[in-house]
Amino acid sequence: MAGSAAAPEPGRDMTQPKRSLGPAALHLGARRASFAQERSRAREIVSMAKAHLARTFDDLRFGRGLDVEKLWPMVSGIQASITRHPGAIMAVTRLKDRHEYTYAHSVAVCGLMIGLARQMGLDPAKHHEIGMAGLLHDIGKARVPTMLLDKPGPLTSEEKMMMRDHARLGYESLMSGDEVLNANQRLTSIVLDACLHHHERLDGSGYPDNQRGEHISLYARMVAICDTYDVATSARVYKSASSPAEALDLMVNSPGRFDPEILSAFSALIGIFPVGSMVRLRSDRLAVVLESPDDEATSPPVCPFFCIQTRQQLPWRRSPPGVDPIIGIELPSRWNLPVWAETRAAILAHFEGNLPLE
Ligand SMILES: [Fe+2]
Ligand SMILES: [Fe+2]
Repeated sequence: MAGSAAAPEPGRDMTQPKRSLGPAALHLGARRASFAQERSRAREIVSMAKAHLARTFDDLRFGRGLDVEKLWPMVSGIQASITRHPGAIMAVTRLKDRHEYTYAHSVAVCGLMIGLARQMGLDPAKHHEIGMAGLLHDIGKARVPTMLLDKPGPLTSEEKMMMRDHARLGYESLMSGDEVLNANQRLTSIVLDACLHHHERLDGSGYPDNQRGEHISLYARMVAICDTYDVATSARVYKSASSPAEALDLMVNSPGRFDPEILSAFSALIGIFPVGSMVRLRSDRLAVVLESPDDEATSPPVCPFFCIQTRQQLPWRRSPPGVDPIIGIELPSRWNLPVWAETRAAILAHFEGNLPLE
């Protein structure tokens, strides 16, 4: 049975891919860019990747077989964007349309996996496969009824079982791809194992095989963290989005579930003040982080929205780095502000364009 199988032997060595690299525009300019420059490029890259992934899911859903060849250039595009500015892809994939949630989530996890691999200093020759592992980790959801994926309320225990089956279904689909497609589409153990075991947890409480500790592959442990973080920080019909700090706090305070070393590298990747975080300013105002800073040594632009002393909402203005320094990150749950999640979403949407600084 696939669910109890050990990690399969690698297929062709994907570290030396011999494949089309797709639209040249995605691969040019592999150097540092400003957040604003890279965000507009990242929007195109993410939108193209989501469209290709949607077609791949549909192919599987409607029994047309699984062709992942066209997804490799998408991974290359995401990888190049992260090289130019690691924060842009993360910012662009943060907002997810309800109807394309699974595709946007998969692209987000792909970006986080590549960023995490870089942060952990893993062999650069493997980053491409590691990104593909993120992109395809939930491919099994193509074989789960759409009404379940989009169900606004809680799942029944039977529905939960069906949903959990996506890990095994995805693995089986990727494996069967070897038989029906030509050999150069073969996926390595990194991608296959991450797909099958991304819901395993170190304490054995995960699924489908209740693997424990180091029996869970490094890559599956990495996807577990990237996946959980992206789910927690995304708004769904049935829940609002947690702030990055709350999502990290949740994982750090789930002892025994996530690999602490990988989690610490992941926290460093996300940065001290990720986009969408609530922070406290020296002026005793609460603010939302608007952008990832261009220079790691500087603080990000923010939008103050609440005065702590007067308990008054503030008019939204973009405050450039350093004008009113950030003194610390805040956990929104401690402030119990009404409609915080909605306020943050509205502020971020408002400043998506480049408005003049205050
Ligand atoms: Fe999953
Ligand atoms: Fe996922």
